[in-house]
Amino acid sequence: MRSIRFATVALATTALTLPLMTGTATAGPAGGEKAAPHSHAAPDRLRSAAPEGFVVGTAVAGGGHHLEQDYPDPFTYDREYRKILGRQFSSVSPENQMKWDYIHPERDRYDFAQADAIVEFAKRNKQVVRGHTLLWHSQNPAWLEEGDFSKEELRTILREHVTTVVGRYAGKIQQWDVANEIFDDQGDLRTRDNIWIRELGPGIVADVFRWVHEIDPKAKLFFNDYNVESVNAKSDAYYALIQDLLAQGVPVHGFSVQGHLSTRYGFPDDLEDNLRRFDALGLETAVTELDVRMDVPEGGAPTKAQERQQADYYRRTLEACLAVEGCDSFTIWGFTDKYSWVPVFFEGEGFANVMTDDFDRKPAFYALRDTLREAARKDDCKKSHKHRKG
Ligand code: G3I
Repeated sequence: MRSIRFATVALATTALTLPLMTGTATAGPAGGEKAAPHSHAAPDRLRSAAPEGFVVGTAVAGGGHHLEQDYPDPFTYDREYRKILGRQFSSVSPENQMKWDYIHPERDRYDFAQADAIVEFAKRNKQVVRGHTLLWHSQNPAWLEEGDFSKEELRTILREHVTTVVGRYAGKIQQWDVANEIFDDQGDLRTRDNIWIRELGPGIVADVFRWVHEIDPKAKLFFNDYNVESVNAKSDAYYALIQDLLAQGVPVHGFSVQGHLSTRYGFPDDLEDNLRRFDALGLETAVTELDVRMDVPEGGAPTKAQERQQADYYRRTLEACLAVEGCDSFTIWGFTDKYSWVPVFFEGEGFANVMTDDFDRKPAFYALRDTLREAARKDDCKKSHKHRKG
């Protein structure tokens, strides 16, 4: 049985600057996603279908590529979006709002408005938060990347940032993506494009884990990356590094696979085995950014076969996580195609999420919901069996 780790996030006093909406997302009769009517009592929401202790998350759309689009900030202004966000999910990850370029736009200025709003929303909706991210080569502000800082100054800047951001949300973050994407696909440390590793050396990674742990001892601290679903050069590099860090007593608690999948490629069949080897090191594991993109066919709409294949990838990823004892956090990178990063980054690909632009549920949504229900049913059976025996 899964350990129950659903700590309600507690927010102290934060200056909340949410221009339009601050209400709790509730399941009102009038609104939200269009679902096929169902007559039985089985839970219809992802969060309530899940087994006890297993959180189902989504990225919270805002910042990043959204700024270049012609719609207003989704998290702040899209009422229907917010309703589904609160209803369906028990975990949220800021898609961009805690990244350096958002939260720390100038050397001496932080902007917490968006991140605070998400943490506050999560509290009201009894959701946990995944912090994303602290040490990364991307989405760093120009003042940092182009600044003329000595090594000592850079170390001070990083430590101050970690202390400030982690400190602000201490006790309210379930898992932190402390280090994001530090290896390339060959399994080599990003010694050129990661400013921290380049300037301060690989040892900085362990230091950041130590600093974060000191400030928020309850948060679980993760390495997070893409293209590490399988056993390959990149995931091997994490496996070796994490063993080394654990041996030195560095507080590393988790390894997570992002899961940006494409139906152009086969499903990573060894995902479960890969998660298991990290689990065997005593780590938590997680799926943190799942989406499954596909080629946009002529005519513009996915075929039934494409939707089936996509649903199958979603289901298998979830099943792999559910099969591993310490994989208790499963997050999709957005739930609606309306706000997906995919068409912006991959020409000719899209439809990667579990709901359409209009928030209609796709087969992938039902695949997740039904897989969660089945896992919860099995857990319940196990529990009642134990109860009868005892
Ligand atoms: O660099 C410019 C910046 O100067 C300008 O101010 C800004 C506003 O127009 O645009 C800039 O870059 C944008 C960047 O976010 C930083 O804001 C990019 O155009 C934009 O495409 C980018 O998108 C985000 C992307 O990360 C960047 O790496 C996406 O919204 C976000 O979904 C995506 O999320 C990542 C995870 O964090 C890590 N794993 C992969 C995942 C998908 O790429």
